[in-house]
Amino acid sequence: MNFKVSSALFITSLLLLGTGFYFVNYLNGDQYDEEFAYKASGYAQASRCSLQNIQNWSCGTACQINPGVTDIKAFYNSTHQIQGYTAYDQNENMIISAFRPTVTDLNTLIDLDYFQIKYTACQGCEVHRGFLLAWKDLQNQVLTSISDLVNQYPNAQVGVFGHSLGGALAVLASIDINNDVKHVDYLYTFGQPRVGNKKFAKYFNERIGHIYRLIHNRDLIPHVPLRVMGFYHEGTEVWYDEPNTSFEVCDFDKDNDKCSDKLHSFTMKDHCYYMGRDICGDC
Ligand SMILES: *[C@@H]1O[C@H](CO)[C@@H](O)[C@H](O)[C@H]1NC(C)=O
Ligand SMILES: *[C@@H]1O[C@H](CO)[C@@H](O)[C@H](O)[C@H]1NC(C)=O
Ligand SMILES: *[C@@H]1O[C@H](CO)[C@@H](O)[C@H](O)[C@H]1NC(C)=O
Repeated sequence: MNFKVSSALFITSLLLLGTGFYFVNYLNGDQYDEEFAYKASGYAQASRCSLQNIQNWSCGTACQINPGVTDIKAFYNSTHQIQGYTAYDQNENMIISAFRPTVTDLNTLIDLDYFQIKYTACQGCEVHRGFLLAWKDLQNQVLTSISDLVNQYPNAQVGVFGHSLGGALAVLASIDINNDVKHVDYLYTFGQPRVGNKKFAKYFNERIGHIYRLIHNRDLIPHVPLRVMGFYHEGTEVWYDEPNTSFEVCDFDKDNDKCSDKLHSFTMKDHCYYMGRDICGDC
């Protein structure tokens, strides 16, 4: 496998992606909610827009998917160019938070800056150093804002979302929100890389509510950093095959002949196409 995918190739692949629209049949029961995943793709994608467009919720399809979003606060920290937002969706009665990927992050990941550092909340846990440092940039603002929203909407559920590296940030955000503010009911990510070691994944699975990691076909990013480097996925994989019309739900990060682990080659070409949309498209 060749992990040296240049950002030029990445950008090119974005240009090649279609923006076709379709609905997938609900094929599989479990607790995976495909309609909610579609909404989640909107929450995740909105994080890519300018702060002002997030703030006034005018970001095209990504925002239109969830018209009930209010109380929006968007955050940006220039240290690692990390961006995200918190808000309330009155239609879902849900406090939401989402994080954006950046091209800079992708380069970091693909160059495999995979150094693991101690994750102090649990014994023996380690996480990707770059992801943790990036999350620290927004940690105070996000936790403060979520805690304000919890005071304002005490009966709301909590959901955290992200695509690509934004998914990795969503993982780290949700464990802090869960431990310091309120139980996290939903974590839906798209094309999310691995974040921590086996102990971290276990710690995570025991605490967070519905955790679904969507993977489109041969998307490369969910397969890095490698297991042999000590990285494991949390949560449940939902694997969409090509042509993206059916999915399988698989447990945790086991080798599994039903989901994406049965594949032997991966590509950035499949990294942006989720829920029938190009979720890398700008606003
Ligand atoms: C939201 O912000 C964008 C970017 O500045 C602007 O173009 C748009 O008119 C604003 N929309 C509303 C409803 O204020
Ligand atoms: C931005 O990130 C840096 C480094 O993590 C941190 O020291 C700083 O407090 C952050 N800024 C804000 C406004 O939170
Ligand atoms: C499935 O996703 C690929 C991108 O990976 C896209 O080119 C293709 O058009 C999609 N198929 C359908 C039926 O939407």
